[in-house]
Amino acid sequence: MTSDIGDIKHAARLLEAGKLVAFPTETVYGLGADASNPEAVAAIFAAKGRPSNHPLIVHVAHGADLNRWTRQLPAEAIRLATAFWPGPLTMILPRAAVVPAAVAGGQDTIGLRCPSHPIARTLLAEFYGGQGGIAGPSANRFGRVSPTTAQHVIDEFGLPGAGPVAAVLDGGQSNVGIESTIVDLTRLASLGPVLLRPGQISATQIAEVLGRLPSVPDAAAPRVSGSLNAHYAPRTHLALVTAKEIDSLMRQLEGADRRFALMYRSVPATASTGLIAAEIMPSDPDAYAHQLYACLRALDTSGADLIIVECPPLEDAWQGINDRLRRAAFDSAGVLDRLLAR
Ligand code: TXA
Ligand code: MG
Repeated sequence: MTSDIGDIKHAARLLEAGKLVAFPTETVYGLGADASNPEAVAAIFAAKGRPSNHPLIVHVAHGADLNRWTRQLPAEAIRLATAFWPGPLTMILPRAAVVPAAVAGGQDTIGLRCPSHPIARTLLAEFYGGQGGIAGPSANRFGRVSPTTAQHVIDEFGLPGAGPVAAVLDGGQSNVGIESTIVDLTRLASLGPVLLRPGQISATQIAEVLGRLPSVPDAAAPRVSGSLNAHYAPRTHLALVTAKEIDSLMRQLEGADRRFALMYRSVPATASTGLIAAEIMPSDPDAYAHQLYACLRALDTSGADLIIVECPPLEDAWQGINDRLRRAAFDSAGVLDRLLAR
């Protein structure tokens, strides 16, 4: 059931007391803690099992004074914030000295995002009267699929109060469905804006605001756990294949007595005794992203040996989706040979 204003105010008090609160955003659910409280921040890393050198995003209220968080606010940041906030964009900026290093995983920078989900906005307005920052990674265990419903969060961490999370605010299914676009603005002079993680806000949209396309990360780019090759992974192995390859792969798996699930768009699933679950995906990229993680979670619990995913198109609007699917499939390299060996 959707959380009401009483639940949100209570959650703000819990955060102020140093507790962890999961909250909905338009991208995915976040696991929130007071960004200025190092112990609360440490509890996030412990709950997620996330290495403590992986920086967290700090969520701020709409219209918040960004100079509290950054020691330098370039014109590019103001332009991007004006164009896309509140919304699914995170900006990496030079960290102000007063911001605890722990929240930034020890880096000299800080990731800032102003979410648009009404419950996140109300929570941020309530939390220290709109002056605080809520550190919030996605509310999943490290390396796993991000949650897009309150139930997903409970599946990850248990019921509120019974595990590490004191409260879970419920705001329905996240609208965007994949994590925010991350743009690094800390090396503008040498590299210009750098796209660290693609999301619904595309490189083209960023170029429309900044007058230049963001570049892709180089070796010196800051650590982004979402950019680890194996990330966003279901427990079941996942194979990303073209539409043309699906039928023959299904026949081969069937011949090896394997059970498999299918996530497809263009090809109708031909009947197969091995096919035990299927999700038909939308042809619109925003609708696809909206459903992606819920579908992966559903297929992950089907008992399949393999999830076969039809490769989405490669256009700009599909970049965030392709990025997440490639990472989800990464650990599965070589798994097909094993599954087909009899
Ligand atoms: O949509 C989102 O961004 C969601 C919602 C909850 O806001 N949050 C999210 O957080 O995806 P998380 O921690 O799962 O992913 C944030 C990514 C991480 O890969 C982290 O390494 C990167 O942002 N990040 C955060 N601060 C950074 C910094 N100072 N420098 C480089 N990367 C940073
Ligand atoms: Mg995450």
